This record gives sequence, structure tokens and C-alpha cells, in this order.
Amino acid sequence: MEINLNEHPVDLFSSWFEEAKKSEINDPQAMSFSSVSEDGCPSVRMVLLRNFDKRGFVFFTNYNSRKAKEIEINANGALCFHWKSIRRQVRVIGRVEKVSDNESDEYYFSRPLGSQIGAWASRQSEYLDSREKLIKKVKEYEKKFLDKPPRPPFWGGFRLVPKEMEFWSDGKFRLHDRFNFKLVEEAWEINRLYP
Ligand SMILES: Cc1cc2nc3c(=O)[nH]c(=O)nc-3n(C[C@H](O)[C@H](O)[C@H](O)COP(=O)(O)O)c2cc1C
Repeated sequence: MEINLNEHPVDLFSSWFEEAKKSEINDPQAMSFSSVSEDGCPSVRMVLLRNFDKRGFVFFTNYNSRKAKEIEINANGALCFHWKSIRRQVRVIGRVEKVSDNESDEYYFSRPLGSQIGAWASRQSEYLDSREKLIKKVKEYEKKFLDKPPRPPFWGGFRLVPKEMEFWSDGKFRLHDRFNFKLVEEAWEINRLYP
């Protein structure tokens, strides 16, 4: 793996992501996101990358969910992409912040109507007695909003702002290539790591 030492890690991510999109079936934008509870216990789940640029990596979710509650208390988070078809992994570590209302609106209104209604109906991460209860809620919100639901105030995006990124590429005999990018006084320091 050749690394240009002046490269911004998000540019490198972008070129790997483009490659992954050519061969990864579902979904190249899937990434694990780890949050940390109040008592320091990590919890991890998959989310979908919806936007990224040099400011960070954006996903959308319910602001009352377990992950959102954990982010509120501890803004440290981590992401991990694994693209099996190209045998590569990217890790991102940083602070998580809410995106602007405009950014959340823009994405929310780009979604199919069913997903917009679904966001209203789901009290993500809460206990649910039965599937019927969820379906009933969907019907209620369909009736209430017809075809124009506003964005729920409890639904929107988070951006993980990277302070460290790692690129891993599979090598023969487990001699993988790894590069760590660490933000040190506003400059990215790059180091090769033992596999
Ligand atoms: C491939 C995949 C993509 C997912 N994408 C999202 C997503 O973008 N946003 C989201 O809220 N949940 C997504 N989920 C569901 C989450 O993994 C998780 O179940 C949900 O967000 C609740 O997590 P929490 O209770 O830890 O907050 C996805 C699940 C899978 C398997």
C-alpha cells in the first residue's frame, strides 16, 4: 500500500470508499459505531454512513436511542468499516456532535415517505410489547401527517469528528499493511504500524 505522506486521511478514505463501492454488495456504507456508557462500558452497533467530508462522518438516528443517550454523556466514539470484497478496514476515533437542523432536514426529506413515518413510529431502543403495537403507530402517524410528515424533533444526524484514523490492508501471511493518522496540533501525523 502506498501512502502519500501529505494526504488527508479523509481523502484516502474517499478513494478506498470509491473502490469498495465497486465490489461490496451491501453495504459499502455500513459501519460499526461504538459509543461509551456513563460507566465506561462500550456498546457497538451498525449504522449507515450518509455523508462525509473533512469535518467528519455522518449517520442518522433517533436522538432518544441508547447510542444517543450515551453520546450525550460521553462524546467519545469510534467507527469501523470492513470491506470484505477488497479486504480492507478503516477505523476512526473521535468526538461525536449533532449535525445542524438543516443537515438533518435535508436528509430526512430525501427519504421515502415510509421511512419518514417510520422515524415517527419508532421509539428506538425502548421495550416494545408486540410488533402489532408498532404497526398501529405507523398507521396512526400515516393518518396524522398524510404525505407531509415534519422531521421528528427526536430524529437527526450525528457527526464523528476524527482525531485518529487507521487504514488496514490485507497482506500475504498476515503481514498486513497498517497506517495510523493522528491529529497532533492540527496536523496529521502518519505512522506505519506493525500488523
Ligand atoms: C447494516 C445496518 C445498518 C444500520 N443503519 C442504521 C442507521 O443508519 N441508523 C440507525 O439508527 N440504526 C441503524 N441500524 C440499526 C442499529 O444497528 C441499531 O439496532 C439501532 O440504531 C439501535 O441502536 P441503539 O439501541 O444502540 O441506539 C442499522 C443496522 C444494520 C444491520
